[in-house]
Order: sequence, then C-alpha cells, then structure tokens
Amino acid sequence: MKRYHLTTFGCQMNEHDSERMKGMLDSLGYAEVERRDDADLILFNTCSIRESADNRFVGHLGEAKRLKAEDPERVVGVGGCWSQSVKEKVFERFPFVDVAFGPGQIPKLAEFLTSDSLTAQGYFEFESFPGHLPPKRARAFQGWVQISVGCNCVCSYCIVPSTRGREVSRPAGDLVAEVERLAADGVREVTLLGQNVNAYGRDLPRGSKVTFAELLGMVDAVEGVERLRYTSPHPKDMREDVVRAHAELSSLCEHIHLPLQSGSTRVLKAMRRTYDRGRYLDRVALIRELVPDCAITTDIIVGFPGETEAEFEETLEVVEEVRYDSAFTFVFSPRRGTEAADLPDQLSHPVKRERMERLVEAVQRRAHERSQRFVGRTVEVLVEGPSRTDASRLRGRTRHNKAVNFEGAAEPGELTLVDVASATSQTLAGVQHAGRTLAAA
Ligand code: 5AD
Ligand code: SF4
Repeated sequence: MKRYHLTTFGCQMNEHDSERMKGMLDSLGYAEVERRDDADLILFNTCSIRESADNRFVGHLGEAKRLKAEDPERVVGVGGCWSQSVKEKVFERFPFVDVAFGPGQIPKLAEFLTSDSLTAQGYFEFESFPGHLPPKRARAFQGWVQISVGCNCVCSYCIVPSTRGREVSRPAGDLVAEVERLAADGVREVTLLGQNVNAYGRDLPRGSKVTFAELLGMVDAVEGVERLRYTSPHPKDMREDVVRAHAELSSLCEHIHLPLQSGSTRVLKAMRRTYDRGRYLDRVALIRELVPDCAITTDIIVGFPGETEAEFEETLEVVEEVRYDSAFTFVFSPRRGTEAADLPDQLSHPVKRERMERLVEAVQRRAHERSQRFVGRTVEVLVEGPSRTDASRLRGRTRHNKAVNFEGAAEPGELTLVDVASATSQTLAGVQHAGRTLAAA
C-alpha cells in the first residue's frame, strides 16, 4: 500500500480542500502516515495570503527536496493558492516537484497519480466546483460544506481572487443533500464555507435562486444539525435577513465574523471594500439590536500603503466602539499581482510593527472585558477532547465560539453544560454543570 503525508497551510477553506484530498487518496488506496519520512507521496496544500505564509512553506519544501534525493521514486506534489499564484514557476523554483495544482484542480492529482506520466505536470485551470470528493473529516462531529468557490471582490490587497477564480455557487439542493449526509454520519456542527458566503446564490440560474439567508434556513431544518456556522461574510453583503436568522434559527450560532480591515473610510476606499466606516458600524448596530448577545469577531490589516497615523487611530476607535470578542490582526503584506502592492507610500516595518502592537493591546483589552460577561453563566459546550494544557481537563467550544477548558467527564462530540468561573480574552474556564455529570448522563 502506498503511503502519503499531507501538510496544510492557510484557512479553513484549505483545510477542507485537504480533507477532500485525503478522501480522494483513500479511495485510490493510499494510507496516511504521520511522518514525512515514511511517505511515498509528499503533499503540500499551500497558502499565499501573506508573505509569511510563503516563507513558512518554503522551509518545508527543503525537507521534501532532501527526501526526494534520498529516494527519487518519491512523488512530491504542491497544491493550493501559492501554487496557483506562481503556476509553472513552481517547477523553476523547485525542480524536484512532480505535480503542482491549484485549489480548483484537486481531482487532477488523482489523474496524475494513476497515469504512467514521468514528467512533471501542472494543473492551473479554473473549474467550477471540483467534483464530489468525499472528505475524510478531521473530526467526526464537525463538518465543513463549501457553498461556493471563488470570489468576485476586487479588494486591492488580496491575492485570493487570482488564486480561486470567479465566484460560483453550488445549487442549494446539492448542499442540503450534503448536509443530510453529514448529519446521518454523526456531524453535529456544520460550517458553511466560501470566500464571500453572503453573496451566495446570486449567480444561480433564475428559477433556482436561493439567497444566503434562505440557505441558512434550509440547513437549519436538517435533523441532527445542532450548530450551524459560516465563514466569511463580507460587510457589504450583510443584509438584515441574515442577521435576523441568527435570532430565529435555533442551530445558527450567536457569532458573526465581520471583517473590518480598516476603520478609516479613506483607507477602505483604497482597499476597494465598497463600504465605509459608517455603513460598517450600521451593520454592527443592527447585529446588536437583533441579536444582543452575539459575539462579533473581525479581521484587521494595519499598515496599508498610505495609512496615516490619524487613519490608523480611526481603526483603533472602531475597535473601542465595537468591542470585538476577538480579532485576527495582520500587518499589510504586498502580494504579487495585487493593486496595493504597487501603491506608493508603502510603510516602513517599524511603523507597521508599532501600530500592530497598539492594535493588539486594544483588541485584547476589549476582548478580555467582553469575555467577563460569561463568568457566572452556564453555557452549552461542544466537547472537542482533552484540554491542550492539562489532559485531566476537557476542552470545547461555546456557541459564541469561545474555547472553554473545564473539569468534567464527556466524550468528544457531546454537547454539555459548563458553569463558567473565569475568563481571559481568549478562553473560558469552568466546571461541568451539576446534573450533566457522568453519573447523571
Ligand atoms: N496583507 C495582510 N493581510 C491580508 N489579508 C488578506 N490579504 C492580506 C495582505 N495582503 C487578511 C485580511 C483577510 C484575512 C483572511 O487576511 O484581513 O480578511
Ligand atoms: Fe485560504 Fe486565502 Fe490562503 Fe488561499 S490564500 S489558502 S484562500 S487564506
């Protein structure tokens, strides 16, 4: 039996692509191994969102080169967004690579492996949804469903539209059928994935058009799905019906990830985000009105070309005003082929770093404050397994997407109740609620 090793970089979309790659390799009779040294097939699913993502992956390829030199029969494959962004140059930079493919071309890996081809191959066409590859899920009780591929936005900093192509929605009926299969297979939490999930459906043919809010309702109705999440939405497409769904659909979790990127209207315009600070804050106000306890999280970029001190301070103001439950913060990284990479007034590293430090301080302080509202409450937790820091405790997540470490007894995949005793900016800690202990279960 042939053995493979796969390393994944990047976002949940890539992780899900990797699950499907694994499902496909299983069906070809490959077995997954934990160490790269033991593999006949060494695979990378790459990311290109920031320069740091590129660099991290280049180190790993060095090891693949050594292993390939040891045993030239080994096959080295590079998939994903970085691969797509450089295309055939993969082979110039890394001549030992046998097969390279973009995110839309995963099935071509199977074609390559089953052919007798000895020459290196690259597959970089955009297709719509890349076939039905049954995923090999990382966790039995959590499932991802890709509702669309690609992105029609033109955010000036972002490489994704060029690595994942134009937006194509999958028919709602296919998606519901997939969720039903997952539920029958024991999945309790479903996350809908797309580059811009709330633009879902606009490209579907007339007659079978379904909006994102309607899709949420259809998935919520599937028996067995206890929790429903989605990522990522775009603030410009965040309509009231979607916010309202969070209040009305029992499975839809009280968490909305709403990427801000910048709090300055001038910078947002240069980013081509198509909303301004006021409209973003209106969306937040709508969420607070309709779903008062909702967790709101975000993505923020500091040091966009030309960002002034005053504009950066506007971002800090929004952070103070919104009081995010958590935020992913990034230093602007110029990406090949994007508009922002060629803008004048690129900021120096010390300026970017200094702003980043101030941003992280504000984000963490606010997140810490926000977290305190859970102390003293009993929250529903989906158990993931033992705590990472203390194996005698359990770890899971709340509907608000907070990680919880707690004392108690429960199996992964179980929903239980936890009394929260303390909270940091990142995690909650507590004890399983009396009456939901092992004895009572
Ligand atoms: N530089 C820094 N951060 C970026 N992101 C996307 N492109 C870049 C870039 N060139 C961030 C955005 C996005 C998140 C996934 O990554 O904040 O929402
Ligand atoms: Fe995901 Fe973007 Fe990285 Fe591609 S480039 S893996 S879409 S984060």
